[in-house]
Amino acid sequence: MIKFDRVFKHYDKFIYLFNLNKMDEIKDVLELQGDEVVLDIGGGTGRLADYLSKDCQIVYVLDESKVMLSKVKANKKVLPILGDALNTNFDSNSVDVVIMSDVLHHIKDQKKLIEEIYRILKKDGKLLILDFEKKHIKIMILRVFEYILFGKLYFRTSKEVINLIKNKFTIAKFIDKKYYFIIRGEKNV
Ligand SMILES: C[S@@+](CC[C@H](N)C(=O)[O-])C[C@H]1O[C@@H](n2cnc3c(N)ncnc32)[C@H](O)[C@@H]1O
Repeated sequence: MIKFDRVFKHYDKFIYLFNLNKMDEIKDVLELQGDEVVLDIGGGTGRLADYLSKDCQIVYVLDESKVMLSKVKANKKVLPILGDALNTNFDSNSVDVVIMSDVLHHIKDQKKLIEEIYRILKKDGKLLILDFEKKHIKIMILRVFEYILFGKLYFRTSKEVINLIKNKFTIAKFIDKKYYFIIRGEKNV
């Protein structure tokens, strides 16, 4: 069974309940211009895609969970895609912005993931990563909770994430919120 198939019904309620909804901050960091092709990797129920869609050309919500995607309010600006982040069907140099919000720590082969994102992003394309600070006390508790739900996870510190992407992306923004962080990288060519 795909991991998130167990939680999709209550997922959005849980996010609001635990104050994990960071859409405003993501939008501020992205600085969208209105014409971007955006790919929300692990975009789940499409909450963020729906919120950003009025500020860009189109948002693709790619997720491996069919039932998470069943919650997406699809329309001509928000398109769900069932697929694997490590092996997308996007053409090389075809996407302006890739977002991974609360997703990186769910994926084991993070090096391959970053290579795939680098491949599909256009020159100067943006990669936004929001994730949780591995060693923060609050996140240590979250890790136990997520382990019970999902099994092994691959949390990183913000420094480790910067190290993971820095050969392929210039770090344009780093927002340190102690228990979570947002990084905006820009594709090096
Ligand atoms: C914690 S949820 C985050 C959902 C959304 N980004 C948000 O911020 O609410 C993680 C999502 O990543 C998806 N996911 C995990 N591994 C994936 C993979 N290899 N390819 C595509 N989606 C994946 C899960 O199915 C799930 O919907």
